[in-house]
Amino acid sequence: MTECAAWFQRGERVIAGGVNSPARSFRAVGGGIPPVMTRGQGPYLFDVDGRAYIDYLAAFGPLVLGHAHPRVIAAIKQQAERGPLLGTPCDVEILLAEELVRSIAGLEQVRLTTTGTEAVMSVIRLARAATGRSLMVKFEGTYHGHSDPVLVKAGSGVATGGGQLSSGVPAGVIQDVATLPYNNVKALDDFLQARGAEVALVLTEPIVGNMGIVAPLPGYLEAVAELTRNAGALLAFDEVITAYRFSYGAAGPRLGVIPDLYALGKIIGGGAAQGAYGGRRELMQLVAPNGRMFQAGTLAGNPLSAAAGLATLEVLREDQPYAEMDRLAAVLADEIALRAHRWKIPVTINRVGSAFTVFFGATAVVDYDGAQASDARRFAQFHRLMLEAGIYLAPSRFEAWFVSAQHRPDDIAQTLDAVERAFQVMAGRD
Ligand SMILES: Cc1ncc(COP(=O)(O)O)c(C=O)c1O
Repeated sequence: MTECAAWFQRGERVIAGGVNSPARSFRAVGGGIPPVMTRGQGPYLFDVDGRAYIDYLAAFGPLVLGHAHPRVIAAIKQQAERGPLLGTPCDVEILLAEELVRSIAGLEQVRLTTTGTEAVMSVIRLARAATGRSLMVKFEGTYHGHSDPVLVKAGSGVATGGGQLSSGVPAGVIQDVATLPYNNVKALDDFLQARGAEVALVLTEPIVGNMGIVAPLPGYLEAVAELTRNAGALLAFDEVITAYRFSYGAAGPRLGVIPDLYALGKIIGGGAAQGAYGGRRELMQLVAPNGRMFQAGTLAGNPLSAAAGLATLEVLREDQPYAEMDRLAAVLADEIALRAHRWKIPVTINRVGSAFTVFFGATAVVDYDGAQASDARRFAQFHRLMLEAGIYLAPSRFEAWFVSAQHRPDDIAQTLDAVERAFQVMAGRD
């Protein structure tokens, strides 16, 4: 038995399902034992058997600087020596908040939370507090964390469970959530015509990362913003994946739309536990202690996370690695498409900047129905072959490949060799 298998078995005895988040299991790719990792360095992961993998998971998005970036590690060490938790206002959380507010249009004030889930929960509560309305609108196949209202028809790990994973969510919660198709202006317009006066917020990922990468069609986000505001509701962008992934700042403003509220996470924690939410100052004045919307956290504004996040943002701002990340991702995605075509394996690749998804057997994917029409069995086979070749991909067809600032042309070339061999096997020519 490999060390990985032995460790995983130990884990399964004491951790439900052997994983601390379902998307890490291999159930969506035909089962099997996920390698148990012991460390990461740059673009690589290393398992307990000593095997190296080129990592495109990036821990589901946060690791835009790759693993264990020296500046981030130095910041964590320095903060650990000053005390990992102070339980009071502290300098480093203020520095991070200032940087977020400075670099994201429409983010006038912020609250730091511990996870993206909490950030979204708080956005929903704040929008309801501000409008006095209860109903929220979200979109099929987006993922907004694991709080009750957002599990309805959600993407990511919920999607791989066949949408049957909302057990335990009370009917009373579901009744205040409307879930509509993404990229469909008419569906939103029709809904808001009928029930717009009841809607507190329209919540969306501006670029969806959780049914695979799906970009908004031209004009879609602008139309969503206009319809939402005409209904007297608030527009909330969940930028937990997108902020600082495609450029330095948030994706919404770059696409021409500034929301009323943002939820943030992942990259702004530099690999440590971090979320944030915020928006217009007058909305944030409703949050306790200034206002009556309660939201709190023992670990919120955690100095270790703030230090790691701040160091990550500093490196991103100084190095501006986006053009090179995008270039490498484009090479990778275009070459995968070319090789798939050569081996007569139908794929659709959705790429935005440094993130992309390879949908097997699907034609244009603009919404959740399109993503679901992709071939789960083919993806599972591809995933297994890539893993065997030392390439770590997210174990679900509804996630993304993330190219980081640490991937080098050699890593891309090695990955493409693995793709070529995988396609050869899949085409039945090995
Ligand atoms: C868009 C989006 N929102 C919210 C979340 C939840 O964040 P967390 O896992 O930190 O609670 C995720 C996590 O994948 C996400 O992708």
